[in-house]
Amino acid sequence: MSKNVKHLVAVAVLVVIGAIVTYFLLTTIYTLPLAASAEAGPIDTMFNVQFILISFLFALIIVFMGYAIVVFRRKPDDEGEGDYFHSNTTLEIIWTIVPLIVVIALGIWAATVLAEVTEAKPNEMRVNVIGRQWSWLFSYPEIEEIGLSDHLILPVNRTIVLQMTTADVLHSFWVPEFRVKQDLVPGKVTTLRITPNLIGDYKIRCAEICGFDHSKMLADIAVVSEEDFNAWIEEQTVKLADLSPAERGEKWATDYGCKGCHSSDGSQLAGPTWLGLFGREELLEDGQTIIVDEEYIRKSILDPDMQIVTGFQPGLMSALGDFGERFNDDEAEMRTNEGLEVDIIEDIIAYLKTLQE
Ligand code: CUA
Repeated sequence: MSKNVKHLVAVAVLVVIGAIVTYFLLTTIYTLPLAASAEAGPIDTMFNVQFILISFLFALIIVFMGYAIVVFRRKPDDEGEGDYFHSNTTLEIIWTIVPLIVVIALGIWAATVLAEVTEAKPNEMRVNVIGRQWSWLFSYPEIEEIGLSDHLILPVNRTIVLQMTTADVLHSFWVPEFRVKQDLVPGKVTTLRITPNLIGDYKIRCAEICGFDHSKMLADIAVVSEEDFNAWIEEQTVKLADLSPAERGEKWATDYGCKGCHSSDGSQLAGPTWLGLFGREELLEDGQTIIVDEEYIRKSILDPDMQIVTGFQPGLMSALGDFGERFNDDEAEMRTNEGLEVDIIEDIIAYLKTLQE
């Protein structure tokens, strides 16, 4: 074997070993989250091919460089000039053409996968998504029984078309386990298709910096069996008349999206937590202290910016519209449609009273 061939064989072996080690490290460091949607399959295959290519290219460059530095270094007694090389045209053509083909092929492949993942599927179910600073709201326009919800429940193995809008700034709907991601853009309806194929609980994250509490803009998503999903719809068809005021209050808190900003477990969201709120003494921005009673709650719902408790930002709740007006309209509708006499604010207060520490 000539000396050159020996070097080439040694380098080739080192490149293969280097690529394998790099691939092992990459896939150990960057473990992908659980794959829980049909869309995840082709996307993970692409990730994997990228990892293999990256490992090979990394090893190729590092091994050639390292080998040259170590094996061809100047010997202690060598004072001569190095050999003169001119460029190698064949090599240059190869290292231009090969990556070009690889990149074009990856581009075509990615476009095909994107088209496949975003195309309409049979038996889709539509879900509307509203993103706002800093919570999510969902509704199921095709299922009358389900009102607005602050969490998502989806049947397994059915393609869901999310029609997404934002009430304020850019947000992005992202469930890492589903791999796909889509921005919510002001003034536009954007679409995302997901086909969850693994029963379980996941978290929706906002993946677009959208202000102070961006990192807290999370929502629960549960993927359930077809039967559980139907049972859940059934559960939603509760007769309002059968509920106690506090139970209705909890339902309103969900339906009107209150829970997006007011937690019931003491955690701090955009608005004060409702846990232990009733009867609490609060310091207002103007230095005055008040006790949170029926009257204060009613006033705060009807005119949220009037008496702001220190530490909270005015304008957030009023930006969501006039709740007093909405409640009046909905109460009138319940009166005409179901002959039901309810006071939504009173129900919410009744619910608040149950949230004591
Ligand atoms: Cu919404 Cu970040």
